[in-house]
Amino acid sequence: MNTQSTAPYISIDNLGKSYGQTTVFEGLNLTFKESGFYSIIGPSGCGKSTLLRILLGQEAPDRGEVRLEGTPLVPFPSPHRGIVFQKYSAMPHLTCLGNVMLGLELRESPVLGRLFGAARRRARDEAMAWLRAVGLDHAAKSFPAALSGGMQQRLALAQSMALKPKILLMDEPFGALDPGIRADMHQLLFSLWEESGMTVLMVSHDLPEAFSLGTRVLVLDKPDPARPAQITYDLALKPRPVQTHLEKAQALAPDAPQTLS
Ligand SMILES: Nc1ncnc2c1ncn2[C@@H]1O[C@H](COP(=O)(O)OP(=O)(O)OP(=O)(O)O)[C@@H](O)[C@H]1O
Ligand SMILES: [Mg+2]
Repeated sequence: MNTQSTAPYISIDNLGKSYGQTTVFEGLNLTFKESGFYSIIGPSGCGKSTLLRILLGQEAPDRGEVRLEGTPLVPFPSPHRGIVFQKYSAMPHLTCLGNVMLGLELRESPVLGRLFGAARRRARDEAMAWLRAVGLDHAAKSFPAALSGGMQQRLALAQSMALKPKILLMDEPFGALDPGIRADMHQLLFSLWEESGMTVLMVSHDLPEAFSLGTRVLVLDKPDPARPAQITYDLALKPRPVQTHLEKAQALAPDAPQTLS
C-alpha cells in the first residue's frame, strides 16, 4: 500500500456505456486514490450500479478505459475486487462457515472448488476468523435463511473480506437495515476499512451515511435528463489516512520514543 502516492489508483478515462437507446455514461472521467473511502450518491437511474458493475469487471465499458494501478482493467470479476449488494443471497444449502469457506476454496482450487486435509483446515480457520471479525462466529453453523438482515450483511462482508480485496465495492449495502443495526454496521465497516487499507467505493442513498463514512463524496447526476450522467459534485472531506501500526501505537502512547533507534 502506498498512501503517499498521488498517482490515481483507479482511473476512468472517457468512459461510455449504453444500453440500447439509453446512454448512461459518455466521456466520464474520474479517479480514485488508494485507501480512500468514496461515497457515491445520486438519484435513481443515474448509473451508480452500472459504474460499480464496470469496476467489478462484471460489465465492459463500450467506450473509454478503466485502469487499475495503471493497467487496463480486465472485464472479468477478480478476487482483488469484492462486492456487497443491498440484498445479499448466500448459497442457501451452505452454512455461514461453508459460505465463507467457498470463496477461499474456489480461490485455491478453481476447478474442484474444494480443498482437502491441511489446506481445508487452514481455509476453515481463516473463514472462522472472518466470521469472528464480523461478530458471526456464534452463527457459523446456521444457514442463511435463519439470519436476520443485519446478520446477512455481516456474512456478505465476511465473504468479501476473506478474499482480501484491494477494492471493496458496495451497492447500498445497508439500505435494507434498521437504523440501530445500520449504525453497528457502519462501525464494523469503518474499522475493517481502517485495518485493511483497502479502497472502498460505496453507493448510498443515505446522506449522513455517505458523509460520515466517506473521505470523499461524489454526486453522480443527470442535470439534463436527456443527457448521460456526470459527476456534479466532488467533495473531499477531511482525509483520514489509514494509520500504520506504529502510528497507532504512537497515538496510544504519545510520550514514547518516535523512532526505534
Ligand atoms: N442491464 C441493463 N439493461 C438495460 N438497461 C439497463 C441495464 N442496467 C441498467 N440499465 C439502465 O441504465 C440506467 C442506470 O441504471 P443503474 O441501475 O446503474 O442506476 P442506479 O443509479 O444504480 O439506480 P438506483 O439508485 O435506482 O439503484 C437506467 O436507465 C437503467 O434502466
Ligand atoms: Mg443501483
